[in-house]
Amino acid sequence: MYPLLRPLLFTLDPETAHHATLDALKKAHKLGLLCAKHPADNPRTVMGLAFPNPVGLAAGLDKNGEYIDALAALGFGFIEIGTVTPRPQPGNPKPRMFRLPEAQGIINRMGFNNLGVDALIENVQRAKHTGILGINIGKNADTPIEKAADDYLIGLRKVYAHASYVAINISSPNTKNLRQLQGGDELDALLAQLKAEQEKLAEQHGKYVPLAVKIAPDLDGEQIKQIAALLMRHHIDGVIATNTTLSRAGVENLQHGKEMGGLSGAPVREKSTAVIRQLAAELQGALPIIGVGGILSGADAVGKIQAGAALVQIYSGMIYRGPDLVGESIAALAS
Ligand SMILES: Cc1cc2nc3c(=O)[nH]c(=O)nc-3n(C[C@H](O)[C@H](O)[C@H](O)COP(=O)(O)O)c2cc1C
Repeated sequence: MYPLLRPLLFTLDPETAHHATLDALKKAHKLGLLCAKHPADNPRTVMGLAFPNPVGLAAGLDKNGEYIDALAALGFGFIEIGTVTPRPQPGNPKPRMFRLPEAQGIINRMGFNNLGVDALIENVQRAKHTGILGINIGKNADTPIEKAADDYLIGLRKVYAHASYVAINISSPNTKNLRQLQGGDELDALLAQLKAEQEKLAEQHGKYVPLAVKIAPDLDGEQIKQIAALLMRHHIDGVIATNTTLSRAGVENLQHGKEMGGLSGAPVREKSTAVIRQLAAELQGALPIIGVGGILSGADAVGKIQAGAALVQIYSGMIYRGPDLVGESIAALAS
C-alpha cells in the first residue's frame, strides 16, 4: 500500500505528510486494519530486556507518544518515543524538515518540538502497548547548557516508572551546544549524576530501568574512545549510535542539500556504521550497541549487526520504504 501512497505524500510538505500519515495509521489501527505478521520474529535479550525482535522505531517520529499502539502494530520489536523535554516547547520555525529523495535522505532542524514530559506520560498511560517502550529525554532550548543535567534528571525521574529503558539524547544538532555534553568532562559529570539518580529510582520503584546514551556520528576516533571508556566506567546500560549528521558530503548539490540541521537516511549510513564498528571494538561487549542511521533495506540492518550492534532502529527508512521495511529487516536478521 505504501508504495502507492508515497508519491501523493511526497507532494505534501514533509511535516504535513508526517502528521497525515500518523493520523491515518492511528485510525487504521483503531479500525483493526493493522496486523503485522512476522513469522521470522527473532527474540533476544539486551540490557536485561526481552525484545521480541531486534528492529525498533528510532526516536523523533513519535515525539509525544501519541501513536504508540499504531506503531507497535507495524511489527516493531520496540518503540522509542521522544525526545521529550521537561517543559513543552514549539521547536524551530517551519519549514524545518526537508526530503532529499535523490539521496534517500532527510534534513531536519525540528529542535525538540514537543508537548512536555507530563503530556507524554499521559499518552503512555493511555496506550495499551505492553511491549518494550524506550523514552528518549533531552533538555529545553532555554535551559542553559551548564544546567543541562537538571533537565535530564527531571526527565529521568518523571519517565522512570513508565519506560522499559530511558535514552539520553546528547547528540541532536538542533539544540544549541547540546553536543558539547559528549565531551569528556561534561559527559563524565552528566553520567555520574544520571547513574546516581538511576540507583535511587531503582530502589524507590523496585524496578531497574536501563539507561542508553545516544551519540552523534560526527565524532573522531579519539572522541569515540573516550565516550566508550566513560560509558563503561559509569556502567551505562547501552549506547545508541547514531543520531543525524552535520556532514553534507554527497548531498550539497541537491535541492535542500544545504539546509541547516541534521542529515539522516542513506547519506548517514556508512558514518553511523563506522561509529558502531569502533564502539564495538572499544566496548568489547561491556554494553550493547543499538545501531541506527540509514537503514533502508534488510541488508542495511544486517550491516549494523555485523558491525557490532545488538539491535537496530529505523526512522528515515520508514519515510522512503514504509512499513514493509520493518518485516523485511526482521526477516533479514532472522536468516
Ligand atoms: C525528522 C526527524 C526528527 C528526529 N528527532 C529525533 C529526536 O527527537 N530525538 C532523537 O534522539 N533522534 C531524533 N532523530 C534522529 C533519528 O532517531 C535517527 O537517529 C537518525 O535519523 C538516523 O536514523 P535514520 O537514518 O534511520 O533516520 C530524528 C530524525 C528525523 C529524520
